[in-house]
Amino acid sequence: MKTQLIHDLEALVPRFAEALAKADASDLEAVRVQFLGRKGSLAALMAAMGGLDPQDRPEVGRVANAVKARLAELWQQCQEHLAQKAQGTMPFDAGDPAWVPHVGALHPTTRIQQEICAVLQRMGFETVSGPEVETDFHNFEALNLPPGHPARDMQDTLYITERVLLRTHTSPMQVRTMLARRPPLAIIAPGKVYRRDSDLTHTPMFHQIEGLLVDRQVTMSQLRGVLTALVQAVFGASTRVRFRPSFFPFTEPSAEVDMSCVLCAGRGVLDCGEGCRVCKGTGWVEILGCGMVDPAVFAKVGIDPEAWTGFAFGLGVERMAMLKYGIGDLRLFFENDSRFVRQFA
Ligand code: DAH
Repeated sequence: MKTQLIHDLEALVPRFAEALAKADASDLEAVRVQFLGRKGSLAALMAAMGGLDPQDRPEVGRVANAVKARLAELWQQCQEHLAQKAQGTMPFDAGDPAWVPHVGALHPTTRIQQEICAVLQRMGFETVSGPEVETDFHNFEALNLPPGHPARDMQDTLYITERVLLRTHTSPMQVRTMLARRPPLAIIAPGKVYRRDSDLTHTPMFHQIEGLLVDRQVTMSQLRGVLTALVQAVFGASTRVRFRPSFFPFTEPSAEVDMSCVLCAGRGVLDCGEGCRVCKGTGWVEILGCGMVDPAVFAKVGIDPEAWTGFAFGLGVERMAMLKYGIGDLRLFFENDSRFVRQFA
């Protein structure tokens, strides 16, 4: 009985220390009550001393007092430690594990966006930005896409109200710029855009860069020159560019632009003889839409279509990043895995 009691009393110390190590300021008091309270573990063992032979009591009593003092001391230390920690005045402890600062890196979308914008800024384009929550007027109507126009189906739209939506492209910045300033003007508008689709190759949010130049007698060959210079600055001087006729309601004529495939250098087959996945064996990858500003758009924003001409283009930033950095899966862009992001530092 005596030995058992001494053993149980001494065992309280490590149990108490363990409980304190797990405690924070909010449960410190509960731990104290559990061990040192009137109905706590120590009190229970001390009550059991009543059943001891009288000659054993002094010895067990000394152990009990020592244990009690030790528990009080531990509790005091723990309380001070937590209070200091809360105030942020922890003394330096050389035994603490080293604090390794977590160094971030620019996301590949940000990097390529900055690179593309820098090239265009050197050509004289000025960067502008505007709202992601747009009106139907700026996103569609002024871009020659009236309600019910079949081309609205090309962009599955996230509506907020009937007339307010999340912009489906950066093209509304053409409208905002032309309403706010008089030509000549040359702007680029990078930013987020939103569409109601989500699958392996589409995310509900992605990035575009819009370009718009309005001046006297602007020509399609100038558009071609600007875009070729842009692609070659970003992907290298040997990259080729081709225009394919296309349709956008806000440009006439319109074109889609392809560049020679970065992976197979436009050959459609890899050195190993396998067909190229990136361009599906064609040697070309589509990178943007463009065209000459439709006179109907000029009319909507009060610019005389007889006096002014312009070109516009819109490119997908994630797509450019995938080609530039060889990223095969769009989902990686949005997983927020810092190991992925740091590879592009
Ligand atoms: N806004 C179009 C889209 O998101 C891309 C585009 C095409 C922009 C032609 C333009 C343009 O400025 O001229 O699909």
